Amino acid sequence: MVTIPLSLYIHFPWCLSKCPYCDFNSYALSDKKIIDEYIRRLLMDLAIEGEAKHGNELKSIYFGGGTPSLLSPNNIISILDQIRNYFSLASDVEITIEANPGTITLEACQMFKIAGINRFSIGIQSFDDEKLKSIHRAHSAQQAIMAVEAVKLSGFSNFNLDLMYGLPGQNAASAAFDLQIALDFKPPHLSWYQLTLEPNSFLRTNPLGLPQEEELWDIQQTGQDLLSKNGIAQYEVSAYCASPNYKCQHNMNYWQYGDYIGVGAGAHGKITLSNYLVKRYVKISDPYKYCQAESFIESDETVLNDKLPLEFMLNALRLYQPISYDLFQKRTGFTIDAIEKQLNYAKKLGLIELKNNAVIVTNHGKNFLNDLLEIFL
Ligand SMILES: C[S@@+](CC[C@H](N)C(=O)[O-])C[C@H]1O[C@@H](n2cnc3c(N)ncnc32)[C@H](O)[C@@H]1O
Ligand code: SF4
Repeated sequence: MVTIPLSLYIHFPWCLSKCPYCDFNSYALSDKKIIDEYIRRLLMDLAIEGEAKHGNELKSIYFGGGTPSLLSPNNIISILDQIRNYFSLASDVEITIEANPGTITLEACQMFKIAGINRFSIGIQSFDDEKLKSIHRAHSAQQAIMAVEAVKLSGFSNFNLDLMYGLPGQNAASAAFDLQIALDFKPPHLSWYQLTLEPNSFLRTNPLGLPQEEELWDIQQTGQDLLSKNGIAQYEVSAYCASPNYKCQHNMNYWQYGDYIGVGAGAHGKITLSNYLVKRYVKISDPYKYCQAESFIESDETVLNDKLPLEFMLNALRLYQPISYDLFQKRTGFTIDAIEKQLNYAKKLGLIELKNNAVIVTNHGKNFLNDLLEIFL
């Protein structure tokens, strides 16, 4: 019997407004009335997933979006009650909610805590009003500061701040300014993403002085130095933590090729069946259709087990920690020989080392991660 850790993702697809760089399944909320119907459907979706008996207890629950902090504490309570009706929860289950500063009050944070949320992830992006305006964020730097204070005052010891770099007009000094303000809050976790732009996105077609390659390199080096001097360790391409206890358990499960259930519009799921066959599915992505359709599933497929070794590597190589041969075997059912050819090639290029029964990405490999991933595509 294969035992794979299990997580649950719940998608809330609405936001205060749609950011011009955002490629997530999210929409500006124009009619609040839809939320009650959406919650009703989420509870049904959860019941169907619960009845499918995926087996294991849940290690983590993640309310993502969109902006799930637009939900009321009562909405969260009814969703968590339904989850408890159908699933058992690990004693140290991590329950995260993503939040936009424009939606957070001290009272709401306190209520979310009482409802059972134990981790906040706040989408700050920048503490500079000019930068926030340039990417059309729906909040100010002051609101971002107040949001972090509200989360801390409510007693959340585990929280994440999302920042982006590579913003219009940014240089190493202004990126360091954002990081320093974040660091002053002593965050247990930081996500520091490089802004990526879809080919047709508003910002790409109306460039506002986006930093170019050399500047970006400078920003990255300055930022990484600052974080490491402050005792914040990088453990994934964009993820940093103050101690290993604060690694995001939910994302760790994705990167270590665990299983996950997805409920809500456009949510993805991955469940390992017997003999290491993997079932993947996507829920209906249009939120209005999600509220009406007979079945929640938009598409599904079963991945043959000979695809698993490469899929596993594409996830695990993002992590800044050794990938043990043992974990490879536990998640894929194959011994490491299944990817011998790719490993030897990556080693020859100096992208990885093979040591102590583990694959270790070298500094060169970290700097050229896309080249490394391509070997396993
Ligand atoms: C799904 S969003 C959820 C947070 C919330 N909706 C918000 O934006 O405040 C998660 C994070 O992804 C990052 N992100 C979104 N779009 C991005 C892009 N095009 N490039 C880089 N990072 C991005 C942002 O830091 C954002 O906070
Ligand atoms: S608030 Fe977050 S999810 Fe919503 S549009 Fe902006 S980046 Fe995307």
